[in-house]
Amino acid sequence: MTAPIPRPLAYDIPGPKPLPLIGRTLNTLQFVKDSVGYTRQLFNEYGNLVSLVEGGGTRLYSSRSACPGTVFACGPELTRQVTTQQDVYHKGPLTGPLYRLRNHSERTKPLRHFLVGIFADNDDRHLQQRKLMMPAFHRQRLQSYAQDMVTITEDELNQLAVDPDPDQIKDISAFMRQVTLRIATKSLFGEDVGSKGGKTGSIIQEAFMLQVSPSIKLLRLDLPGLAWHRYLSLAAQYESVVRGLIATKKQRGSDEPDVLSMLMQAQDEETKTGLTEEELLGHVGVIFVAGHETSANALTWTLFLLSQHPQIMADVVDELAAVLQGEAPSLEKLQQLPLLDRVVKESMRVLAPVPWNGRVTAKPTELGGYSLPEGTEVLVSISQTHHMSELYPNPESFDPSRWETIAPTAYEYNPFSAGPRICIGAGFAMMEIKIVLAMLLQRYRLQFVPKNPIDRAGIIVMTPKHGMLMKIHRQDRQFNEGVGGVKGNIRDMVQLPQ
Ligand code: HEM
Repeated sequence: MTAPIPRPLAYDIPGPKPLPLIGRTLNTLQFVKDSVGYTRQLFNEYGNLVSLVEGGGTRLYSSRSACPGTVFACGPELTRQVTTQQDVYHKGPLTGPLYRLRNHSERTKPLRHFLVGIFADNDDRHLQQRKLMMPAFHRQRLQSYAQDMVTITEDELNQLAVDPDPDQIKDISAFMRQVTLRIATKSLFGEDVGSKGGKTGSIIQEAFMLQVSPSIKLLRLDLPGLAWHRYLSLAAQYESVVRGLIATKKQRGSDEPDVLSMLMQAQDEETKTGLTEEELLGHVGVIFVAGHETSANALTWTLFLLSQHPQIMADVVDELAAVLQGEAPSLEKLQQLPLLDRVVKESMRVLAPVPWNGRVTAKPTELGGYSLPEGTEVLVSISQTHHMSELYPNPESFDPSRWETIAPTAYEYNPFSAGPRICIGAGFAMMEIKIVLAMLLQRYRLQFVPKNPIDRAGIIVMTPKHGMLMKIHRQDRQFNEGVGGVKGNIRDMVQLPQ
């Protein structure tokens, strides 16, 4: 009898070795706990291409049946290769491995669409679906969303003023989530039901939070009271609410200015066909999730950075006062705020709200001189590339003025990703972030409260783990109050005053 042929390593990209028994689990847990911090260490130790565990054997999010393992990449060249080779590097549903359960039972059927949408479309199908979605994000459409953004922000800011206590402390990250959830619900579905958020919005929001919670990973029993049961019920509710919305919009037959109505009218010029109800169900859920947590965190991190840089904050408030004179910005006026633009760009460089571009190899390939088998999870770090000192001198310094002289390529600076899958809502997001900041900073001064450490958390979106506490004052220009005293691991990403 011939000796069995040794199973080759899935790949030989360097990385930490697994420990006996718990090795791979420990690495995965460290990644899940602090994806940005853990991989910073790995990149520093092993270089721009690194395995989560040497030899593979891990699975973080792939919905495919076989997964040889997980690798991380950073730097412009690897970013270019992964984000532009669409036939090699595929994306998958936001539900990850849960997608595989879609045909298990009647109850799991909504998982065929729920949080699938354009994220799960690849190759020609992705191009075709994206083309149909584009009109909803064109510049002329942004004008109508801008009006909703101003109205909702005004209403939310009025509520901040209701509490007369000058020492009221607010979790700004929760507040920003509320503002962007409301904006997303209105611009996506045409619903504005006040601060509590629309029904569709809150269903998706709750399901998305449940999906990333350990309770679903550990115990998948469809029994009342358990998380998996709740999750499946929410996915079913989502399907019935959105089908209902589509039916109502069809009946009204009107040309409404929300994204869902636009998608319902979209038509392929060649085939004269539009999006099916199933495709709509997938797309709107994904757009909703992709579109509001991201902007909420970009806003929270920007306000945090400004709170610790009083001179930059003073200059921004001066610019706003000079150009807007207390008014909300129009789209034309937004173009006249160069400092605000640099502040937002620099904030998303230092603290990228979406730290990763996630892909899975659709066929065997080669990356950075190494072979990768089909099915390998490849995560490209936006965050790490933004902190490379060869691209950004003194990368941990929050310095908006650097944007007066630098013009990085799409692979050097890519908070919205790069290549054919670049964020479809980038224009929407930049407009939303600037409108909210311009209106808020003219009216209020936010003073950082150093009660909780500022630790980062989250894989899909980087968020402050313990919230972001701030005192709300009328804009009195006392920008030095609340500077310093920041604790937490955010300090290894940005230099802050003591
Ligand atoms: C600061 C806010 C935002 C950031 C940082 C952000 C970032 C990103 C990134 C990095 C990707 C690519 C992910 C990958 O390739 O793995 C992406 C894709 C996407 N984003 Fe955004 N996004 C933001 C806001 C929005 C908004 C407001 C919307 C919609 C209203 C949106 C809708 C989408 C969609 C639909 C995709 C998938 C595009 C495709 O696969 O073709 N995003 N976003």
